[in-house]
Amino acid sequence: MSEPASVPAPGSATSLTRSFDALTPEVMRERGSLKWTYYPGDIIGAWVAEMDLGTAPAVAAVIQRCAQEGTIGYLPPETAQAACQEVARYHREAFGWDVPAEEVSLLPDVLSALNAVIAFHTREGSPVIVPTPAYMPFLSIPGHHGRDCLQVPALERRNHDGSPRWELDLDGIEAAMRQGAGLLVLCNPWNPVGRVLSAEELSAVAFLSSRYGVPVFADEVHAPLVLDPSLTHIPYGSLPDTDPALTYTATAVSKGWNIPALKCAQLIASGQARARWEADPRSAGLSHSASLLGAQAVLAALRDGQDWLAQVRRYIRTNAELVRQGLDTADGLEVTLPEGTYLAWLDCRGLGTDNPARFFRRRAGVAMNEGVTFGDAWDGFCRLNLATGRAIEAETVRRIVTAARQRPVSA
Ligand SMILES: Cc1ncc(COP(=O)(O)O)c(C=O)c1O
Repeated sequence: MSEPASVPAPGSATSLTRSFDALTPEVMRERGSLKWTYYPGDIIGAWVAEMDLGTAPAVAAVIQRCAQEGTIGYLPPETAQAACQEVARYHREAFGWDVPAEEVSLLPDVLSALNAVIAFHTREGSPVIVPTPAYMPFLSIPGHHGRDCLQVPALERRNHDGSPRWELDLDGIEAAMRQGAGLLVLCNPWNPVGRVLSAEELSAVAFLSSRYGVPVFADEVHAPLVLDPSLTHIPYGSLPDTDPALTYTATAVSKGWNIPALKCAQLIASGQARARWEADPRSAGLSHSASLLGAQAVLAALRDGQDWLAQVRRYIRTNAELVRQGLDTADGLEVTLPEGTYLAWLDCRGLGTDNPARFFRRRAGVAMNEGVTFGDAWDGFCRLNLATGRAIEAETVRRIVTAARQRPVSA
């Protein structure tokens, strides 16, 4: 018997949109994610970079199949190799980067790649350059290896329409390289400001890297999440002017397909960087810690999860527009919507409160990330996660705007 016309086919755009629209804070708390359970009470979870939108049906199906069959053991080399081949194919077809599969290796997560690059593949004791605002662990990890972190705050510019645009401070990066830095961490798309870096910016970084001999750790985990249809992600390592000996790229399906628990990121490196990585058992051995479930999820996401992700990107773009329209009505707030990622960057300096994230958590019941955790210069900012259901987004905006309008001086 055929379905009645009013019931959308499972997995169709309409059915997905409806299921996202139906999300409520109660449902999210019941599911038990970190984002929704950390703060007790009626708090909207809009902080951790997790999506409320589940994962692609193809990814869910492979997890279910592995669970049912009991295929939850160690990662066979054939599956690992297939995942590396799939990652290479994806980079070739989606971003025009012709990476041989042999230059892709697996490891549990992007941060284990950063830890290994700093610990085993940079000059001992050398500081690490981190453009800010930065994903918080970039600021703390150098210290775990006895390294200084040289923070280089972004430059505030404006787009043609007057909206804020954050750019790398290339002079600041050069000055830090001249001081003897041993690594630059380059996040593209850039969490939390949502920039998709241009070929010109990336080439300028490559020029500086070669000139001063400073390796670059390119974190491209948000690459599948370019929201602006007029932009494409350009892998740093794909540029003709990047030096392979000075380039480590880390990526994963964990952000795009929302599965960080499955632990199977990828390190892409070629030439001398690949040779050094493989020659040191402490970095090469990380491939043994990637998970079988994660590798299966990589295959499912990249082969069969693209339509789902396209719908999710569209859905998040509409949420972003809702946030822009709502927050435009509140004095003291200015939002940077992401070109890529599902994270918005809220400039709350006009509010006159010393810790805006705490203010909004207490006065609005919305938990965002505190700007100061993204670097020293950013205490007047908050990061807002846009990857939620429409009704939750609308309520988030309503709460933020109401609290901002009340504008108590201290929070
Ligand atoms: C820029 C960036 N890199 C890395 C990660 C974490 O990735 P993983 O869980 O693979 O270490 C995140 C998570 O939010 C992120 O935003």
